[in-house]
Amino acid sequence: MTDTDTLRSTWLARVADAADAPALEEVRLAALGKKGEISGLMKELGRMTPEERQIRGASLNRLRDEIDAALRARRTAMDDAALDERLKSEWLDVTLPGRPRPHGTIHPVSQVMEEVTAIFADMGFAVAEGPQVESDWFNFDALNIPPEHPARQEHDTFFMARATGDNRPPHVLRTHTSPVQIRAMQAQGAPIRVIAPGRVYRMDMDQTHTPMFHQVEGLAIGKDISMANLKWTLEEFCRAFFEVPSVELRFRASHFPFTEPSAEVDIRCDWSGGQLKIGEGESWLEILGSGMVHPKVLAAAGVDSAEWQGFAFGMGIDRIAMLKYGIPDLRAFFDGDLRWLRHYGFAAGDVPSVSGGLSR
Ligand code: DAH
Repeated sequence: MTDTDTLRSTWLARVADAADAPALEEVRLAALGKKGEISGLMKELGRMTPEERQIRGASLNRLRDEIDAALRARRTAMDDAALDERLKSEWLDVTLPGRPRPHGTIHPVSQVMEEVTAIFADMGFAVAEGPQVESDWFNFDALNIPPEHPARQEHDTFFMARATGDNRPPHVLRTHTSPVQIRAMQAQGAPIRVIAPGRVYRMDMDQTHTPMFHQVEGLAIGKDISMANLKWTLEEFCRAFFEVPSVELRFRASHFPFTEPSAEVDIRCDWSGGQLKIGEGESWLEILGSGMVHPKVLAAAGVDSAEWQGFAFGMGIDRIAMLKYGIPDLRAFFDGDLRWLRHYGFAAGDVPSVSGGLSR
């Protein structure tokens, strides 16, 4: 074995044994660097005879090229291995489906409030608002329900606490949206056309009653507004809201302190087959109270009843939501059960269809 063969096997072995890039660089310097072994041997060529130099030079050149090639190959292998390692740890499957973000739904009550507001807006009604903690004057007295009136007991009122020593009558959680009639007329006078959707409270709890529920109040005051206008307005509303070509309403004489005359309104429906259909059938469902605004109510709101008259109505929003969307239990509306909300909730883009039902 020539000494070149020994050198070759020694250096190629060291190249193969280098564990990482710094170790490999050390091997390169020790062999081919300025002070490296092979470089040192090449320097000796100068002292040889031309014949010796020719043979020795050629074999050293070959040896240098071989070691250089081995160094490069090893370097590439190391880089490839490092890249493989990185790809393994940073691996990303771009073909996987994205993770959908959870999104909520619109509560049926919110949806129905939007629908109701849109339909009445089409008929020229603006939206009015009032506080949920209301004075007993707005909630009762101004609506012709004086302190000893039996209607006060029927309302199952929640009273707010007063500080000890404060003897004013307690505020109440409003028991209906009717006080907004008074507030709207005080603020805007007559003529006026408003609806007032919102929360109301009564001490009551069973399958069809919850202590908090929603009503929408309607009020239209003008010079010659009559029960006929009330009937047309409610029929148009029901047609648009329930999205059926014809609805039949039944006006039943009733009594409310704040209207004279008063009427409760039922809608014709069908329960056969366990499914509720609006607009046909032999059953009637009460959906609202209404009437001509009592002169005392107009007076309390600062509107001259010799000059102005009009109608009002109050409707249960939760009730008509149950009817339209076939939701059986009222209490579930306010349980916050996610499964219920996903089932009965609406997507943000579900716009109420309005003009479809209105005959114009
Ligand atoms: N405020 C009544 C209630 O909560 C509903 C009502 C009846 C409102 C007749 C009205 C009306 O405006 O005219 O039971």
